[in-house]
Amino acid sequence: MKDDILTRAAKLVRQLFSFNPPPTSMKGSNMNQKKIFLSEQDIPKQWYNIVADMPTPPPPILHPGTGQPIGPDDLAPLFPMGLIMQEVCQDRFVDIPEPVLEALQIWRPSPLIRATGLEKALGTPAKIYYKYEGVSPTGSHKPNSAVAQAYFNKAEGVMRLSTETGAGQWGSSLAFAGGLFGQEVKVYMVRISFDQKPYRKALMQTYGAEIVASPSPDTNAGRAILEKTPDTPGSLGIAISEAVEDAATRDDTRYALGSVLNHVLLHQTVVGQEAMKQMEIAGEYPDIIIGCCGGGSNYAGLAFPFMRDKINGKDTRFVATEPASCPTLTKGEFRYDFGDTAQLTPLSPMFTLGHQFVPPPIHAGGLRYHGDSPLLSQLVKDGLIEAEAYGQLDCFESSITFAKTEGIVPAPESSHAVHGAVKHALEAKEAGEEKVILFNLSGHGYFDMAAYTNFLAGTLEDHAMTDEEVKESLKALEGLPTV
Ligand SMILES: Cc1ncc(COP(=O)(O)O)c(C=O)c1O
Repeated sequence: MKDDILTRAAKLVRQLFSFNPPPTSMKGSNMNQKKIFLSEQDIPKQWYNIVADMPTPPPPILHPGTGQPIGPDDLAPLFPMGLIMQEVCQDRFVDIPEPVLEALQIWRPSPLIRATGLEKALGTPAKIYYKYEGVSPTGSHKPNSAVAQAYFNKAEGVMRLSTETGAGQWGSSLAFAGGLFGQEVKVYMVRISFDQKPYRKALMQTYGAEIVASPSPDTNAGRAILEKTPDTPGSLGIAISEAVEDAATRDDTRYALGSVLNHVLLHQTVVGQEAMKQMEIAGEYPDIIIGCCGGGSNYAGLAFPFMRDKINGKDTRFVATEPASCPTLTKGEFRYDFGDTAQLTPLSPMFTLGHQFVPPPIHAGGLRYHGDSPLLSQLVKDGLIEAEAYGQLDCFESSITFAKTEGIVPAPESSHAVHGAVKHALEAKEAGEEKVILFNLSGHGYFDMAAYTNFLAGTLEDHAMTDEEVKESLKALEGLPTV
């Protein structure tokens, strides 16, 4: 009798406290769910390498001196061999090492959110989903690659890293990752952002990084530019020159780049792989996939896992969005060009506005880059990705609608993706089509409130690069090899 009571009591306790989680994939049954979370078990264990599936493989990177394809040894002064091997990797999937997974676990998986408030405000039949990367410690997608790069450097004994930062997002992400793995980090921050974003500086210093405005007096490249143009707002191209020079002239230092390179895009594919699972749980597949594009990493991170399906026959539109003041994909040429202003990097095949281009100081600092990722450029060239350029005022306008309806204030870079989503949702409304739109909200804008203050005060200006200006800027490519 006593045993019977005990058994029944135990059963009751089990019933009260046991929780059977719903199956991870409930296709079609969560149509009205606002947020779709995955469990930590769902963090991808491998990165996806699109090179294995591209219809046209990207042309090789060239040595600027010889004009010949570079080999892994040419890159060794700048990067650890682990990352160089990822740069030239042809395998479809690459395992993520355990210490990197442990670091990613701090904030991943990130949520997929249906922008129901925005949909209502626009009165669109389109369904708008966004992958929110602002939940990372530094507020954007950048730590996805920063922790991987810090780890692969540490694995080869590299304890000092140099880098550039435009908006401050990449610099703070590498500072965070360096702090995590015990490395020193020196950040060359584009002068205009250095002045506009004092709290990004403070964040980097909090993680233990050293930070200097670029161009700086610390490098030959910086000194030469300061001599010619002491008032320059700086550019990513200049800051890259300084960070590359720092690494190339010190044995204890390697360089880390926050975008453009194949291995950086590879690291970002955790975003798209998670989003695929989350869209499946929502019972949807996107008709249009949108992301802002500076060097290409956040957009590639979201888009490339889905692009594999498109290459295999799925009918999805891919739209990369960029500023009209730095229209690399929409007005640039697909050419070999240097990644930096001082011509220290190898020559990459990419859409470019010319390495001497200094974009006007718009607030989306992370989108002010003259070039673009070679992988993404090739897919644009092959017609698999479309590109659209927007003025910054339209982007801020859309971001304010987004903030009022969804609550999150987008980073100025991400506002180009938000505007893309708004534009395509309004086109769907016009056409009476129930499109499914997915975009990457690559970061939040809480360190960028000065930009919003200026916008609200009406002091921000639009600037679109004219065809004449593009022609002039592309003169920097004269004499360089063509693709
Ligand atoms: C929030 C955010 N989104 C997008 C970008 C653009 O870079 P990428 O094209 O590599 O994602 C940046 C760059 O700094 C950024 O900070």
